[in-house]
Amino acid sequence: MKDFVFRMPTKVIFGLGKSKEIGNICVEMGAKKAFVLTGPNIGKSKLLVEIKEAIEASGVECVAYDKTAADPSVELVDEVAAVVRASKADVLVALGGGSPIDLAKAVSVLQTHKGSVREYMFGGGKSVTKPVMPLIAIPTTAGTGSEVSAASVITDTKNKIKLSVTHDNIIPKVALVDPLLHVGMPPLITASTGMDALTHAIESYTSLNAEPISDALGIHAIKLIGENLRTAVANGQNLEARTNMAIAALIAGAAFVNGGLGVVHGIAQALGGLHHTAHGIANGVILPYAMQRNYVGNLAKFKDIAAALGENVEGLSAREAAYASVEAVHELLLDIQAPASLPDIGVSREDFGPIIEGTMGFRLLAINPCKLIEKDIEGILEAALLGEV
Ligand SMILES: [Fe+2]
Repeated sequence: MKDFVFRMPTKVIFGLGKSKEIGNICVEMGAKKAFVLTGPNIGKSKLLVEIKEAIEASGVECVAYDKTAADPSVELVDEVAAVVRASKADVLVALGGGSPIDLAKAVSVLQTHKGSVREYMFGGGKSVTKPVMPLIAIPTTAGTGSEVSAASVITDTKNKIKLSVTHDNIIPKVALVDPLLHVGMPPLITASTGMDALTHAIESYTSLNAEPISDALGIHAIKLIGENLRTAVANGQNLEARTNMAIAALIAGAAFVNGGLGVVHGIAQALGGLHHTAHGIANGVILPYAMQRNYVGNLAKFKDIAAALGENVEGLSAREAAYASVEAVHELLLDIQAPASLPDIGVSREDFGPIIEGTMGFRLLAINPCKLIEKDIEGILEAALLGEV
């Protein structure tokens, strides 16, 4: 077995109703003033009022900012970072899905590092070298794993590309996960964020960087998603399904921080930069077709995935058992009524050039279970165009 390092520095506080404890958590962290970052929808909801009241009830000052946006841009990060600096707050609280949490991570860097976030993004020339402003993440979706991950995905609108700021220092200090906050999530968001979590679990489990702890987390996440995502989409009020999906998203996040990702995220990132396709939707549309290309790279692990997703693999050949994972993921995608082909999301063959170029530049393509060249990415996209496995 190869040597490995596993890190999971985030303190996880998990449970129904736990978000009400945000005030005590701020106090424990020694905070005097919290800066809550969220989007306009939560900004109008009573959730933000409750979070703010809970913080203030603990004797910590609180400023709320609700102008974050989906797929945060370089300009937005720089603008919000200046507002946070001026506020003199000493802890950040990100409340929302992956976008506000990613935005908060990038903003946390710019509290202790000079310049624009552009300089800290992949290829930007500067690195995170110091501790950043502490961050508490309260996810309102179950998917991105951003509450425990080291990556902040930012959109470079000028160059139509999404790039990450990635460093262990930006991993949130606390993940406050309250599945009650997920109950109101609409079916399509539940489906797409759930597919993002499944992609994290499958890509980390099959990556060339996989190690025993990320494997244990990844395969358990796959099982939980196979057992709960359909129910969470069909009946959002089901607390057991919501709780299990929240656990799955969290541990799939911890899995990919350590095990890494692969071609699905490479294509999704390129698609997101080009078409603003939501991250989870893009992952879902690509996942089965990428698995169709990748399964030959590790038959044993793709067989494990099939079994974890409830497929009967008894009596099948190694190849058949592994391929059953491809069919299982495709069926899941159809069952949860998520987009399952490129035409479903308005992508045509004319877009392939920039998507392939963007994917080939994806840093983690090197740990994909199969070595892929441009022609392979084109093959995955062709299969996704047809939408059949
Ligand atoms: Fe993702």
